[in-house]
Amino acid sequence: MSTLVVVGIQWGDEGKGKLVDFLSHKAHMIVRFQGGNNAGHTIVIDGNKYILHLIPSGILNKGKKCIIGNGVVIDPAVLLLEINNLKKRGVNIDENLFISKTAHLIMPYHIAIEKEYEKSKNIGTTGRGIGPAYTDKISRNGIRVIDLFYPEILLSKINSNLFTINFLLKNLYKAEPLNAEDIYKLYLNYAKEISAYVTDTDIMINEAIESNEDILFEGAQGTLLDIDHGTYPFVTSSNTITGGVCTGAGVSPLKINKILGVAKAYTTRVGEGPFPTEIKDSIGECIRQRGGEYGSTTGRPRRCGWLDMVALKYAVRVNGLTGLAITKLDVLDGLDKIKICVGYKYNNTVYHNFPKELEVLQNCEPIYDELHGWTENTVGIQDFDKLPINAKVYIKEIENMLQRKVQIISTGQGRGDTILMDELF
Ligand code: GDP
Ligand code: IMO
Ligand code: MG
Repeated sequence: MSTLVVVGIQWGDEGKGKLVDFLSHKAHMIVRFQGGNNAGHTIVIDGNKYILHLIPSGILNKGKKCIIGNGVVIDPAVLLLEINNLKKRGVNIDENLFISKTAHLIMPYHIAIEKEYEKSKNIGTTGRGIGPAYTDKISRNGIRVIDLFYPEILLSKINSNLFTINFLLKNLYKAEPLNAEDIYKLYLNYAKEISAYVTDTDIMINEAIESNEDILFEGAQGTLLDIDHGTYPFVTSSNTITGGVCTGAGVSPLKINKILGVAKAYTTRVGEGPFPTEIKDSIGECIRQRGGEYGSTTGRPRRCGWLDMVALKYAVRVNGLTGLAITKLDVLDGLDKIKICVGYKYNNTVYHNFPKELEVLQNCEPIYDELHGWTENTVGIQDFDKLPINAKVYIKEIENMLQRKVQIISTGQGRGDTILMDELF
Protein backbone atom coordinates (compact mmCIF):
# COMPACT_ATOMS: atom_id res chain seq x y z
CA MET A 1 0.00 0.00 0.00
CA SER A 2 1.18 3.47 -0.72
CA THR A 3 -0.27 6.91 -0.35
CA LEU A 4 1.30 9.68 -2.36
CA VAL A 5 0.54 13.36 -1.93
CA VAL A 6 1.21 15.69 -4.87
CA VAL A 7 1.44 19.33 -3.83
CA GLY A 8 2.42 22.52 -5.59
CA ILE A 9 5.42 24.21 -3.97
CA GLN A 10 5.24 27.63 -5.60
CA TRP A 11 2.23 29.87 -6.30
CA GLY A 12 0.14 27.27 -8.11
CA ASP A 13 0.02 26.11 -11.74
CA GLU A 14 3.16 24.04 -11.34
CA GLY A 15 1.81 21.28 -13.58
CA LYS A 16 0.16 19.20 -10.85
CA GLY A 17 -2.68 18.10 -13.14
CA LYS A 18 -0.31 16.73 -15.76
CA LEU A 19 1.65 14.78 -13.16
CA VAL A 20 -1.40 13.46 -11.32
CA ASP A 21 -2.76 12.18 -14.63
CA PHE A 22 0.63 10.64 -15.41
CA LEU A 23 0.86 8.94 -12.00
CA SER A 24 -2.80 7.86 -11.90
CA HIS A 25 -2.41 4.78 -14.06
CA LYS A 26 -0.91 2.98 -11.08
CA ALA A 27 -3.25 4.44 -8.44
CA HIS A 28 -6.60 3.04 -7.40
CA MET A 29 -7.99 6.28 -6.07
CA ILE A 30 -7.32 9.99 -6.63
CA VAL A 31 -8.50 12.51 -4.05
CA ARG A 32 -8.88 16.29 -4.11
CA PHE A 33 -8.75 17.57 -0.53
CA GLN A 34 -8.92 21.40 -0.65
CA GLY A 35 -9.60 24.38 -2.85
CA GLY A 36 -12.37 24.48 -5.39
CA ASN A 37 -12.80 25.67 -8.93
CA ASN A 38 -10.14 28.30 -8.42
CA ALA A 39 -7.94 25.39 -9.54
CA GLY A 40 -7.35 24.76 -13.21
CA HIS A 41 -5.46 21.54 -13.85
CA THR A 42 -4.45 20.95 -17.46
CA ILE A 43 -3.94 17.53 -18.97
CA VAL A 44 -2.96 16.89 -22.57
CA ILE A 45 -3.41 13.38 -23.97
CA ASP A 46 -2.65 12.69 -27.64
CA GLY A 47 -3.02 16.39 -28.36
CA ASN A 48 -6.43 16.61 -26.66
CA LYS A 49 -6.53 19.17 -23.88
CA TYR A 50 -8.66 18.89 -20.75
CA ILE A 51 -8.83 21.54 -18.01
CA LEU A 52 -10.23 20.20 -14.76
CA HIS A 53 -11.38 22.50 -11.98
CA LEU A 54 -13.04 20.19 -9.47
CA ILE A 55 -12.86 16.61 -10.65
CA PRO A 56 -9.56 14.88 -9.76
CA SER A 57 -7.05 14.61 -12.58
CA GLY A 58 -7.19 10.81 -12.42
CA ILE A 59 -10.58 10.75 -14.16
CA LEU A 60 -9.04 10.38 -17.63
CA ASN A 61 -7.47 7.06 -16.63
CA LYS A 62 -10.16 4.40 -16.93
CA GLY A 63 -11.70 2.91 -13.81
CA LYS A 64 -10.03 5.08 -11.18
CA LYS A 65 -12.07 6.16 -8.19
CA CYS A 66 -12.02 9.95 -8.10
CA ILE A 67 -12.99 11.63 -4.88
CA ILE A 68 -13.90 15.21 -4.07
CA GLY A 69 -13.12 15.28 -0.35
CA ASN A 70 -14.71 17.18 2.51
CA GLY A 71 -12.09 19.95 2.41
CA VAL A 72 -13.07 21.06 -1.09
CA VAL A 73 -15.60 23.85 -1.67
CA ILE A 74 -17.95 22.92 -4.49
CA ASP A 75 -19.81 25.14 -6.91
CA PRO A 76 -22.43 22.66 -8.16
CA ALA A 77 -23.01 24.62 -11.38
CA VAL A 78 -19.33 24.29 -12.28
CA LEU A 79 -19.21 20.68 -11.18
CA LEU A 80 -22.19 19.72 -13.36
CA LEU A 81 -20.76 21.56 -16.34
CA GLU A 82 -17.48 19.72 -15.85
CA ILE A 83 -19.25 16.35 -15.53
CA ASN A 84 -21.32 16.96 -18.66
CA ASN A 85 -18.37 18.19 -20.71
CA LEU A 86 -16.34 15.15 -19.78
CA LYS A 87 -19.25 12.82 -20.53
CA LYS A 88 -19.59 14.40 -23.98
CA ARG A 89 -15.94 13.57 -24.56
CA GLY A 90 -16.56 9.94 -23.68
CA VAL A 91 -15.20 9.96 -20.14
CA ASN A 92 -16.92 7.56 -17.75
CA ILE A 93 -17.96 9.55 -14.72
CA ASP A 94 -20.88 7.74 -13.16
CA GLU A 95 -19.02 4.78 -11.68
CA ASN A 96 -15.92 6.74 -10.79
CA LEU A 97 -16.85 10.02 -9.14
CA PHE A 98 -17.59 10.36 -5.42
CA ILE A 99 -18.41 13.56 -3.57
CA SER A 100 -18.15 14.08 0.17
CA LYS A 101 -21.37 14.69 2.08
CA THR A 102 -19.58 17.23 4.23
CA ALA A 103 -17.91 19.34 1.55
CA HIS A 104 -19.17 22.92 1.64
CA LEU A 105 -21.01 24.54 -1.23
CA ILE A 106 -20.21 27.73 -3.06
CA MET A 107 -23.43 29.73 -3.30
CA PRO A 108 -24.24 32.54 -5.75
CA TYR A 109 -24.00 35.05 -2.89
CA HIS A 110 -20.37 34.03 -2.27
CA ILE A 111 -19.51 35.03 -5.80
CA ALA A 112 -21.53 38.25 -5.59
CA ILE A 113 -19.95 39.39 -2.35
CA GLU A 114 -16.42 38.46 -3.43
CA LYS A 115 -16.82 40.74 -6.43
CA GLU A 116 -17.47 43.63 -4.04
CA TYR A 117 -14.66 42.72 -1.61
CA GLU A 118 -12.19 42.50 -4.46
CA LYS A 119 -12.83 46.11 -5.42
CA SER A 120 -11.23 47.30 -2.19
CA LYS A 121 -8.92 44.43 -1.22
CA ASN A 122 -7.33 43.80 -4.59
CA ILE A 123 -6.02 40.29 -3.89
CA GLY A 124 -6.55 39.28 -7.50
CA THR A 125 -8.73 36.29 -6.62
CA THR A 126 -10.14 34.02 -9.27
CA GLY A 127 -13.58 35.45 -8.46
CA ARG A 128 -15.07 32.01 -7.89
CA GLY A 129 -16.39 32.71 -4.38
CA ILE A 130 -13.75 30.54 -2.72
CA GLY A 131 -12.86 32.91 0.15
CA PRO A 132 -16.46 33.71 1.14
CA ALA A 133 -17.40 30.01 1.02
CA TYR A 134 -14.55 29.09 3.38
CA THR A 135 -15.43 32.10 5.55
CA ASP A 136 -18.97 30.72 5.98
CA LYS A 137 -17.55 27.29 6.76
CA ILE A 138 -15.32 28.65 9.53
CA SER A 139 -18.02 30.93 10.93
CA ARG A 140 -20.42 27.93 10.92
CA ASN A 141 -22.81 29.46 8.42
CA GLY A 142 -21.79 27.18 5.59
CA ILE A 143 -24.12 25.01 3.55
CA ARG A 144 -22.83 21.49 3.06
CA VAL A 145 -23.56 19.01 0.29
CA ILE A 146 -25.66 16.99 2.73
CA ASP A 147 -27.94 20.00 3.36
CA LEU A 148 -29.13 19.75 -0.24
CA PHE A 149 -31.13 16.69 0.77
CA TYR A 150 -32.97 18.39 3.61
CA PRO A 151 -34.99 21.10 1.81
CA GLU A 152 -36.25 22.82 4.95
CA ILE A 153 -32.77 23.17 6.40
CA LEU A 154 -31.48 24.31 3.03
CA LEU A 155 -34.10 27.04 2.70
CA SER A 156 -33.64 28.27 6.23
CA LYS A 157 -29.85 28.48 5.84
CA ILE A 158 -30.14 30.33 2.53
CA ASN A 159 -32.62 32.77 4.08
CA SER A 160 -30.49 33.39 7.11
CA ASN A 161 -27.29 33.91 5.09
CA LEU A 162 -28.97 36.15 2.55
CA PHE A 163 -30.36 38.32 5.32
CA THR A 164 -26.87 39.59 6.06
CA ILE A 165 -25.44 39.42 2.56
CA ASN A 166 -28.34 41.28 0.96
CA PHE A 167 -28.03 43.95 3.62
CA LEU A 168 -24.40 44.45 2.63
CA LEU A 169 -25.07 44.23 -1.10
CA LYS A 170 -27.89 46.78 -0.96
CA ASN A 171 -26.72 49.24 1.65
CA LEU A 172 -22.97 49.09 1.57
CA TYR A 173 -22.13 48.12 -1.98
CA LYS A 174 -25.20 49.50 -3.78
CA ALA A 175 -25.43 46.23 -5.67
CA GLU A 176 -28.40 44.04 -6.63
CA PRO A 177 -29.70 41.81 -3.81
CA LEU A 178 -30.24 38.10 -4.49
CA ASN A 179 -33.46 36.13 -4.22
CA ALA A 180 -33.54 33.26 -1.72
CA GLU A 181 -36.33 31.35 -3.43
CA ASP A 182 -34.46 31.37 -6.77
CA ILE A 183 -31.30 30.04 -5.17
CA TYR A 184 -33.25 27.42 -3.24
CA LYS A 185 -34.93 26.08 -6.38
CA LEU A 186 -31.66 26.09 -8.31
CA TYR A 187 -29.87 24.15 -5.58
CA LEU A 188 -32.71 21.63 -5.21
CA ASN A 189 -32.22 20.87 -8.89
CA TYR A 190 -28.49 20.47 -8.38
CA ALA A 191 -29.30 18.08 -5.53
CA LYS A 192 -31.12 15.78 -7.95
CA GLU A 193 -28.28 15.88 -10.42
CA ILE A 194 -25.46 15.15 -8.01
CA SER A 195 -27.17 12.85 -5.51
CA ALA A 196 -25.83 9.65 -7.07
CA TYR A 197 -22.25 10.76 -6.44
CA VAL A 198 -22.66 11.82 -2.82
CA THR A 199 -21.27 9.54 -0.14
CA ASP A 200 -19.09 9.23 2.99
CA THR A 201 -15.78 9.71 1.25
CA ASP A 202 -13.75 9.53 4.47
CA ILE A 203 -14.95 5.95 4.93
CA MET A 204 -14.10 5.08 1.32
CA ILE A 205 -10.62 6.54 1.58
CA ASN A 206 -9.80 4.87 4.88
CA GLU A 207 -11.18 1.53 3.70
CA ALA A 208 -9.00 1.83 0.61
CA ILE A 209 -5.99 2.49 2.85
CA GLU A 210 -6.87 -0.55 4.98
CA SER A 211 -7.17 -2.65 1.79
CA ASN A 212 -3.65 -1.64 0.75
CA GLU A 213 -4.78 0.31 -2.29
CA ASP A 214 -2.57 2.98 -3.84
CA ILE A 215 -3.98 6.45 -3.29
CA LEU A 216 -2.98 9.75 -4.82
CA PHE A 217 -3.88 13.00 -3.08
CA GLU A 218 -4.02 15.86 -5.58
CA GLY A 219 -3.20 19.28 -4.18
CA ALA A 220 -4.58 22.45 -5.67
CA GLN A 221 -2.90 25.88 -5.64
CA GLY A 222 0.58 25.89 -4.07
CA THR A 223 2.44 26.24 -0.79
CA LEU A 224 2.97 29.99 -1.09
CA LEU A 225 -0.80 30.43 -1.47
CA ASP A 226 -1.52 28.48 1.74
CA ILE A 227 -3.76 30.39 4.16
CA ASP A 228 -1.32 29.82 7.07
CA HIS A 229 2.03 29.42 5.36
CA GLY A 230 1.67 31.54 2.23
CA THR A 231 2.23 35.21 1.52
CA TYR A 232 -0.80 36.31 3.56
CA PRO A 233 -3.09 38.10 2.71
CA PHE A 234 -2.20 37.37 -0.92
CA VAL A 235 -3.17 33.72 -0.57
CA THR A 236 -6.11 31.45 -1.13
CA SER A 237 -8.42 30.45 1.73
CA SER A 238 -7.41 26.84 2.32
CA ASN A 239 -4.44 24.81 3.54
CA THR A 240 -2.70 23.86 0.35
CA ILE A 241 0.21 22.09 2.07
CA THR A 242 0.43 18.38 2.90
CA GLY A 243 -1.34 18.93 6.21
CA GLY A 244 -4.49 19.76 4.25
CA VAL A 245 -4.77 16.08 3.31
CA CYS A 246 -5.47 15.07 6.90
CA THR A 247 -8.25 17.58 7.48
CA GLY A 248 -9.54 17.74 3.92
CA ALA A 249 -9.85 14.01 3.35
CA GLY A 250 -10.09 12.62 6.88
CA VAL A 251 -6.79 10.74 6.83
CA SER A 252 -4.31 10.26 9.66
CA PRO A 253 -0.86 11.80 9.12
CA LEU A 254 0.53 8.34 9.95
CA LYS A 255 -1.04 7.04 6.74
CA ILE A 256 0.84 9.38 4.44
CA ASN A 257 3.83 7.64 2.86
CA LYS A 258 5.27 9.89 0.18
CA ILE A 259 5.02 13.59 -0.56
CA LEU A 260 5.99 14.87 -3.98
CA GLY A 261 6.49 18.62 -4.30
CA VAL A 262 5.92 19.99 -7.80
CA ALA A 263 7.82 23.06 -9.00
CA LYS A 264 8.26 24.60 -12.40
CA ALA A 265 11.86 25.00 -13.57
CA TYR A 266 11.15 28.72 -13.05
CA THR A 267 8.43 30.49 -11.04
CA THR A 268 5.05 32.01 -11.88
CA ARG A 269 2.38 33.80 -9.96
CA VAL A 270 -1.07 34.93 -11.04
CA GLY A 271 -2.85 37.60 -9.05
CA GLU A 272 -1.40 40.17 -6.71
CA GLY A 273 1.23 39.75 -4.00
CA PRO A 274 4.98 39.67 -3.43
CA PHE A 275 7.19 37.81 -5.90
CA PRO A 276 10.89 38.43 -5.18
CA THR A 277 12.30 36.76 -8.33
CA GLU A 278 9.79 38.24 -10.79
CA ILE A 279 11.44 39.14 -14.12
CA LYS A 280 10.03 42.33 -15.53
CA ASP A 281 12.07 42.53 -18.73
CA SER A 282 11.94 40.74 -22.09
CA ILE A 283 13.17 37.45 -20.60
CA GLY A 284 10.05 37.36 -18.41
CA GLU A 285 7.89 37.96 -21.47
CA CYS A 286 9.81 35.30 -23.41
CA ILE A 287 9.14 32.72 -20.64
CA ARG A 288 5.46 33.74 -20.55
CA GLN A 289 5.11 33.18 -24.29
CA ARG A 290 7.12 29.97 -24.46
CA GLY A 291 5.48 28.52 -21.36
CA GLY A 292 1.98 29.61 -22.40
CA GLU A 293 1.76 31.29 -19.03
CA TYR A 294 -1.87 32.36 -19.06
CA GLY A 295 -4.24 31.20 -16.30
CA SER A 296 -6.10 27.91 -16.93
CA THR A 297 -9.06 29.23 -14.95
CA THR A 298 -9.20 32.95 -15.68
CA GLY A 299 -6.93 33.39 -18.72
CA ARG A 300 -4.97 36.11 -16.90
CA PRO A 301 -1.28 36.47 -17.87
CA ARG A 302 0.93 34.87 -15.22
CA ARG A 303 3.84 36.82 -13.80
CA CYS A 304 7.12 34.97 -14.50
CA GLY A 305 10.40 34.81 -12.60
CA TRP A 306 13.49 32.73 -11.81
CA LEU A 307 13.54 29.67 -9.59
CA ASP A 308 13.55 30.72 -5.94
CA MET A 309 15.45 28.40 -3.59
CA VAL A 310 14.59 30.43 -0.49
CA ALA A 311 10.90 29.80 -1.14
CA LEU A 312 11.45 26.19 -2.21
CA LYS A 313 13.47 25.31 0.91
CA TYR A 314 10.59 26.62 2.95
CA ALA A 315 8.17 24.50 0.93
CA VAL A 316 10.32 21.39 1.43
CA ARG A 317 10.07 21.98 5.17
CA VAL A 318 6.42 22.85 5.66
CA ASN A 319 5.28 20.02 3.41
CA GLY A 320 7.76 17.43 4.62
CA LEU A 321 8.59 16.60 1.01
CA THR A 322 10.06 13.21 0.26
CA GLY A 323 10.83 14.08 -3.35
CA LEU A 324 10.56 16.68 -6.09
CA ALA A 325 9.07 16.97 -9.55
CA ILE A 326 10.39 19.66 -11.89
CA THR A 327 8.10 20.65 -14.74
CA LYS A 328 8.42 22.80 -17.85
CA LEU A 329 12.16 22.28 -18.15
CA ASP A 330 11.70 22.63 -21.93
CA VAL A 331 10.51 26.21 -21.53
CA LEU A 332 14.06 27.21 -20.56
CA ASP A 333 15.54 25.80 -23.81
CA GLY A 334 17.61 28.36 -25.65
CA LEU A 335 18.24 30.71 -22.74
CA ASP A 336 21.82 31.86 -22.53
CA LYS A 337 21.91 32.11 -18.73
CA ILE A 338 19.62 30.71 -16.07
CA LYS A 339 19.44 32.26 -12.63
CA ILE A 340 18.65 30.60 -9.31
CA CYS A 341 17.81 32.76 -6.30
CA VAL A 342 19.80 31.65 -3.25
CA GLY A 343 19.00 34.43 -0.81
CA TYR A 344 17.20 37.74 -0.33
CA LYS A 345 18.89 40.97 0.65
CA TYR A 346 16.90 43.58 2.55
CA ASN A 347 18.32 46.53 4.53
CA ASN A 348 21.78 44.97 4.65
CA THR A 349 20.43 41.71 6.01
CA VAL A 350 20.66 38.53 3.97
CA TYR A 351 17.76 36.10 4.34
CA HIS A 352 18.19 32.39 3.66
CA ASN A 353 14.93 31.47 5.36
CA PHE A 354 11.71 32.61 3.73
CA PRO A 355 10.70 35.79 5.59
CA LYS A 356 7.23 36.12 7.03
CA GLU A 357 7.19 39.91 6.67
CA LEU A 358 5.44 41.14 3.53
CA GLU A 359 7.57 44.27 3.73
CA VAL A 360 10.73 42.18 3.28
CA LEU A 361 9.26 39.99 0.55
CA GLN A 362 8.00 42.99 -1.37
CA ASN A 363 11.20 45.00 -1.21
CA CYS A 364 14.07 42.54 -0.96
CA GLU A 365 16.64 42.11 -3.66
CA PRO A 366 17.20 38.53 -4.77
CA ILE A 367 20.75 37.15 -4.68
CA TYR A 368 21.34 34.96 -7.71
CA ASP A 369 23.65 32.15 -8.74
CA GLU A 370 24.02 32.06 -12.50
CA LEU A 371 24.16 28.86 -14.53
CA HIS A 372 24.77 28.29 -18.22
CA GLY A 373 21.68 27.57 -20.27
CA TRP A 374 21.45 25.06 -23.14
CA THR A 375 20.67 25.48 -26.81
CA GLU A 376 19.29 22.00 -27.47
CA ASN A 377 15.58 21.20 -27.68
CA THR A 378 14.39 19.16 -24.70
CA VAL A 379 10.69 18.93 -25.62
CA GLY A 380 9.39 15.40 -25.17
CA ILE A 381 12.62 13.88 -23.80
CA GLN A 382 11.79 10.79 -21.71
CA ASP A 383 15.28 9.75 -20.63
CA PHE A 384 17.46 11.75 -18.25
CA ASP A 385 20.63 10.74 -20.11
CA LYS A 386 19.31 12.42 -23.26
CA LEU A 387 19.05 15.83 -21.62
CA PRO A 388 21.70 18.42 -22.52
CA ILE A 389 24.54 18.49 -20.01
CA ASN A 390 23.62 21.96 -18.72
CA ALA A 391 20.02 20.89 -18.13
CA LYS A 392 21.34 17.96 -16.09
CA VAL A 393 23.56 20.34 -14.13
CA TYR A 394 20.51 22.52 -13.43
CA ILE A 395 18.55 19.55 -12.08
CA LYS A 396 21.50 18.36 -9.97
CA GLU A 397 21.90 21.87 -8.58
CA ILE A 398 18.25 21.87 -7.51
CA GLU A 399 18.71 18.50 -5.81
CA ASN A 400 21.84 19.68 -4.00
CA MET A 401 20.29 22.90 -2.79
CA LEU A 402 17.05 21.31 -1.61
CA GLN A 403 18.56 18.02 -0.43
CA ARG A 404 15.75 16.12 -2.08
CA LYS A 405 15.78 13.87 -5.12
CA VAL A 406 14.13 15.01 -8.34
CA GLN A 407 11.90 12.02 -9.05
CA ILE A 408 10.08 13.30 -12.12
CA ILE A 409 11.02 15.81 -14.80
CA SER A 410 8.42 17.10 -17.22
CA THR A 411 9.53 18.13 -20.70
CA GLY A 412 6.26 19.02 -22.39
CA GLN A 413 2.51 19.27 -21.99
CA GLY A 414 1.76 15.75 -23.19
CA ARG A 415 1.32 12.77 -20.90
CA GLY A 416 4.36 11.10 -22.40
CA ASP A 417 6.67 14.09 -22.20
CA THR A 418 7.95 12.91 -18.87
CA ILE A 419 11.16 11.55 -17.38
CA LEU A 420 10.39 9.18 -14.51
CA MET A 421 13.50 8.93 -12.35
CA ASP A 422 11.93 6.86 -9.54
CA GLU A 423 8.89 4.59 -9.37
CA LEU A 424 6.54 6.38 -6.98
CA PHE A 425 4.06 3.52 -6.50
P1 GDP B 1 -1.67 22.95 -12.39
O1 GDP B 1 -2.68 23.94 -11.94
O2 GDP B 1 -0.56 22.80 -11.40
O3 GDP B 1 -2.25 21.64 -12.77
O4 GDP B 1 -1.00 23.58 -13.69
P2 GDP B 1 -1.79 24.28 -14.92
O5 GDP B 1 -2.43 23.22 -15.70
O6 GDP B 1 -2.62 25.40 -14.45
O7 GDP B 1 -0.60 24.95 -15.69
C1 GDP B 1 0.46 24.23 -16.17
C2 GDP B 1 0.54 24.46 -17.69
O8 GDP B 1 1.78 23.99 -18.16
C3 GDP B 1 -0.50 23.69 -18.47
O9 GDP B 1 -0.82 24.40 -19.62
C4 GDP B 1 0.22 22.40 -18.81
O10 GDP B 1 -0.29 21.77 -19.98
C5 GDP B 1 1.59 22.92 -19.06
N1 GDP B 1 2.68 21.99 -18.77
C6 GDP B 1 2.78 21.10 -17.76
N2 GDP B 1 3.98 20.51 -17.78
C7 GDP B 1 4.65 21.03 -18.82
C8 GDP B 1 5.97 20.86 -19.36
O11 GDP B 1 6.78 20.11 -18.85
N3 GDP B 1 6.31 21.63 -20.43
C9 GDP B 1 5.44 22.51 -21.01
N4 GDP B 1 5.88 23.20 -22.05
N5 GDP B 1 4.20 22.69 -20.53
C10 GDP B 1 3.82 21.98 -19.46
P1 IMO C 1 -4.08 25.63 -9.38
O1 IMO C 1 -4.68 24.48 -8.59
C1 IMO C 1 -2.61 29.70 -9.37
C2 IMO C 1 -4.59 32.52 -6.68
C3 IMO C 1 -5.39 33.65 -7.29
C4 IMO C 1 -5.18 34.72 -6.23
C5 IMO C 1 -5.22 33.92 -4.94
C6 IMO C 1 -6.56 33.92 -4.23
O2 IMO C 1 -4.52 25.65 -10.79
O3 IMO C 1 -2.62 25.67 -9.19
P2 IMO C 1 -8.82 32.60 -4.74
O4 IMO C 1 -9.76 32.67 -5.90
O5 IMO C 1 -8.30 31.23 -4.46
O6 IMO C 1 -9.38 33.22 -3.50
O7 IMO C 1 -7.58 33.55 -5.16
O8 IMO C 1 -4.86 32.60 -5.29
N1 IMO C 1 -4.96 31.16 -7.12
C7 IMO C 1 -4.23 30.42 -7.95
N2 IMO C 1 -3.10 30.69 -8.63
N3 IMO C 1 -3.15 28.48 -9.46
C8 IMO C 1 -4.26 28.16 -8.77
O9 IMO C 1 -4.77 26.92 -8.72
C9 IMO C 1 -4.89 29.18 -8.00
N4 IMO C 1 -5.99 29.22 -7.25
C10 IMO C 1 -6.02 30.43 -6.70
O10 IMO C 1 -4.86 34.01 -8.53
O11 IMO C 1 -3.91 35.27 -6.36
MG1 MG D 1 -3.63 25.69 -12.61
